[in-house]
Amino acid sequence: MYALLPRLLSNYGAIGYSMKGYINNKEVSFESGQTILEVARAHNKFIPTLCELADINHRPGTCRVCLVDVKRESESEHHILPSCMTPMEEGMAVLTRTTEVREKQRLQVEMLLADHNQDCATCIRHGNCELQDVAQFVGLQQTRYSFPEFYQNRSRDFSSPSIVRDMTKCIRCFRCVNICRKLQGVDALVCREDGLAIEISPRDNMPLAESGCISCGQCITVCPVGALAEKDEIEQALDYLYDPEIVTVVQFAPAVRVAVGEEFGFKLGENVEGKMIAAFRELGVDVILDTNFTADLVIMEEGSELLARLKDKDAVLPMFTSCCPGWVNFVEKYYPQMLDNLSTARSPQQCLGSMAKTYLAQKMDIDPARMRVISIMPCTAKKGEAGRDDFNHEGMRDVDMVLTTREFARLLKREGVDLASMEDDSFDNPWMSDYSGAGAIFGNSGGVMEAAVRTVHKVVTGNEIEDIEYTQVRGESSYRKATVDLGEGGKVNIAVIHTLKEARKLIEQIEAGRSDLHFIEVMACPGGCVCGGGQPVTKHSYQGNRGMRTSGLFSIDKKRKVRQSHNNPMIAEIYKSFLGEPLGDKSHHLLHTKYTNRQLKRTSHSMLEIWQEIDDKS
Ligand code: SF4
Ligand code: SF4
Ligand code: SF4
Ligand code: FES
Repeated sequence: MYALLPRLLSNYGAIGYSMKGYINNKEVSFESGQTILEVARAHNKFIPTLCELADINHRPGTCRVCLVDVKRESESEHHILPSCMTPMEEGMAVLTRTTEVREKQRLQVEMLLADHNQDCATCIRHGNCELQDVAQFVGLQQTRYSFPEFYQNRSRDFSSPSIVRDMTKCIRCFRCVNICRKLQGVDALVCREDGLAIEISPRDNMPLAESGCISCGQCITVCPVGALAEKDEIEQALDYLYDPEIVTVVQFAPAVRVAVGEEFGFKLGENVEGKMIAAFRELGVDVILDTNFTADLVIMEEGSELLARLKDKDAVLPMFTSCCPGWVNFVEKYYPQMLDNLSTARSPQQCLGSMAKTYLAQKMDIDPARMRVISIMPCTAKKGEAGRDDFNHEGMRDVDMVLTTREFARLLKREGVDLASMEDDSFDNPWMSDYSGAGAIFGNSGGVMEAAVRTVHKVVTGNEIEDIEYTQVRGESSYRKATVDLGEGGKVNIAVIHTLKEARKLIEQIEAGRSDLHFIEVMACPGGCVCGGGQPVTKHSYQGNRGMRTSGLFSIDKKRKVRQSHNNPMIAEIYKSFLGEPLGDKSHHLLHTKYTNRQLKRTSHSMLEIWQEIDDKS
């Protein structure tokens, strides 16, 4: 924390890069408090790292692969020290590539691999693993040691519908613990045991499914190896795709189309919707739909619910959005007293499943029992959402399976479908594929709120909102607040929140009676679904691609002819010919849900956690 002060002062010109030292015999300038690793990076000198992650200010010093040779000005002897933990000093001479440094780094990686289940050929992170990269960098050509008696005793947990934990591969970098505790404020993971037996596990060593985990998958996005991953369901998808009796129906979420291209060499944030449609055809998918369509439908239902609550003096306010299953899990597990504040509207994924097996099945004259709805989502929590008890009709799941963006990319690669060589194609389903710009921005934090404001304004005032881009709720801050003026309809106070740490703070304010908000959007993942736990992982980075993915969605919105959910002609048609009206009986039955108190007993803290908390506060 103290290292930040000189940097802040430096930003305001109070101090500059006033100190001098040497890296690999070249003079470098730096500021007080910077580590050797930070200075090396600032001067384009590569030092391998595994546990450190600058984006979240994380450097536990556990991997020891960042060793360098250090000689202080005042000393004659050299030391081999971890560069991520050692401050650069005036006159210090650092060597990153001596024979001794290379040997020590190599030995360190060899030790990590000796205590690591090396099934690299079959690992989910094959070819995308930070440990493999470092082993290559240090020139490790064979491993002399293996200690299965240690790693094989660690747990492998397949209990969760969303996330697999394989601690036989964990290198104890603690990035997952940090993300879950400090960023998400969920704090589901702890370090158990110590020494060689140390293991990351859910609190009280519970199976993940029964633990406090809310399935957001943010821990997966920082794991450098294959110790954390989504539950892979590609085999099931292939069974559906190759079964001639089954009618496969695919939907894909807004944020997938601006991220999956990263796996195929597209520019960051490029919208590959047309290529995805072509790829689905290549895979033999029968019906291609868009979750953006049901994002528009959700706005009709959720917006109407908000207006109904605002008119009813006994209604529960503020109302929270409910399209993020990570957030819904969080409320059910940690704040069940707020369940009535959640909108009852189902998420766009679930609304699509429900509409596909009723409305679309009728329109296309398909027996819904033969349909299998496959979702492509940026989200690990959506896998659990699809399996919720309420999302079944007559024994059939509304959404049969969920693949994350990463699984979808792997599926394409396994089937030899190269997204980059696809010609753009377009939707051909006349009932459930068209979408407005409002539906597209659901993938960003603030998008659901902006879409709702566009529609609620029209419904209450009779006029379209003047500034369609409601920038008051855009931006990166994890808490944004605005007031919407609905003329004679009054003023509505709204807020947009992302990360559950921020949500906790707000809930505490609401419970203390210190909030005047009426409507709140909450997304569990920082930035919203663009950085969901199922999106492509970026090595050595947390959310490095967030800005470009977000811009990708805003640019889709800008280019749409229709930019408000209520003006989507397919939405008008579904109400006219099937649903009746928002919040009507049919809508209520097919597009709304209820929630369950799943509160866990909070357990005691370990000594290690207590020390970490003291450290966090200091
Ligand atoms: S999925 Fe989310 S809540 Fe669960 S352990 Fe990972 S970061 Fe924590
Ligand atoms: S599970 Fe992954 S992120 Fe967590 S400590 Fe192990 S290697 Fe690091
Ligand atoms: S923000 Fe999006 S990706 Fe993250 S848990 Fe919620 S729905 Fe899933
Ligand atoms: S990166 Fe420095 S100890 Fe891990």
